[in-house]
Amino acid sequence: MKEKRFSFSVNVTLWTILAFFCAAASAFKEGQFCVLNRGCDSGLHCETCLAEGQAKPRCTRIRPVDPFSQVKDLPFNRYSWLTTHNSYAIMKVKSATGSVILSPRNQQDSITSQLNNGVRGLMLDMYDFENDIWLCHSFGGRCYNYTAFQPAINVLKEIQTYLEANPVEIITVIIEDYVSSPKGLTKVFDAAGLRKFWFPVSRMPKNGGDWPTVSDMVRNNQRLLVFTSKSEKEATEGIAYQWRYMVENQYGNGGMVAGSCPNRAESPAMNTTSRSLVLVNYFPDAPNFATACKDNSAPLINMVNTCYHASGKRWPHFIAVDFYKRSDGGGAPAAADIANGHLMCGCSSISSCKANTTFGVCNEPQPEVAPLPAPASKSGSASFRIRSGQPELLLAAVLSVSISLLRMRYETLSL
Ligand SMILES: *[C@@H]1O[C@H](CO)[C@@H](O)[C@H](O)[C@H]1NC(C)=O
Ligand SMILES: *[C@@H]1O[C@H](CO)[C@@H](O)[C@H](O)[C@H]1NC(C)=O
Ligand SMILES: *[C@@H]1O[C@H](CO)[C@@H](O)[C@H](O)[C@H]1NC(C)=O
Repeated sequence: MKEKRFSFSVNVTLWTILAFFCAAASAFKEGQFCVLNRGCDSGLHCETCLAEGQAKPRCTRIRPVDPFSQVKDLPFNRYSWLTTHNSYAIMKVKSATGSVILSPRNQQDSITSQLNNGVRGLMLDMYDFENDIWLCHSFGGRCYNYTAFQPAINVLKEIQTYLEANPVEIITVIIEDYVSSPKGLTKVFDAAGLRKFWFPVSRMPKNGGDWPTVSDMVRNNQRLLVFTSKSEKEATEGIAYQWRYMVENQYGNGGMVAGSCPNRAESPAMNTTSRSLVLVNYFPDAPNFATACKDNSAPLINMVNTCYHASGKRWPHFIAVDFYKRSDGGGAPAAADIANGHLMCGCSSISSCKANTTFGVCNEPQPEVAPLPAPASKSGSASFRIRSGQPELLLAAVLSVSISLLRMRYETLSL
């Protein structure tokens, strides 16, 4: 047992040192082996996907290309947004009631961190609880201490802060709504200071038409779209009933059958073009940290394609996953880039869009997709911007060995 562990460590150490020397020469691109997050290009982090039979960590995308960096002024329904399923069900947190949470977890990082990584769709489950509205992952429409995450206002305030600090960003909140207290949602959104960003239902296209342009939404400061699963709240509280504006495929295991994209029961058929937004869910019934990296890779892109056909040749505006940072390389951010390329400019990915040209005129695909522009460097040896001969390197190498070991131990445990 001891010997085994020792040889494992030696193995990891050797590989780490090797990877480290490579890292000293250049920052890693998507899909390349890595040791530390900082060894990867911007917009990537370093992680392992054991479910793909791959024990060595690779640089993995966590951010889509910012769609506004390419084409700024299209209708809202000409963009695709990375969306987190149960965005608030974050690993390792305790319930704000003090209780241990028995509900499963779907994401790794805070709402603020998700937003900073370019997530623009948030799926939140809201319940009446403790004379307030809580984010809860529960059953039977009731929230309990051991299924309650935190008061919704906390997360809504994070959204408020983000919108305030980022005056051109647009966020969509999709609520699985169990709130029946009178004006419960209205009160909590108001209390969080989100009313001023509200996109009014009256401006939402009712018959499959185009949405206002994003620049119009920014100019009017109508940068928060909120959808509820309760139809009556559109009339009583001015909160849009989700499936009056959106079609959505089946969530959970039933939505992960390759080649098939049925609608969720509450949604009209996927090809209903009187709804101008398309949401694609791709996550299992029970969130699975270990296999999410596999699900969020080629199978997700395949499902996006399948749903494109099922939806009357429409690319998804929202792509919703668990553990959005996990993949074997491009993951859900790359799926959003693909949808954006098609929606915005008729190209296979946003990185092939050409500024100000006609729809369908694309740059040749690059051999390597550069997700976010790196700071311009005029020297021919831009890739040598790292690190030769700095003392911090030794420390980094030692640290990285421990990190690799911890990471592998963690992944093994969570399998
Ligand atoms: C649930 O949490 C609240 C605090 O939010 C506490 O007052 C209450 O006693 C807890 N109930 C149970 C059954 O633990
Ligand atoms: C829409 O999809 C349904 C299956 O969900 C199919 O029966 C129907 O023919 C499709 N309609 C059109 C116009 O393609
Ligand atoms: C695209 O058009 C906008 C406004 O029409 C202009 O400001 C921008 O410089 C153009 N970009 C290129 C690359 O031509």
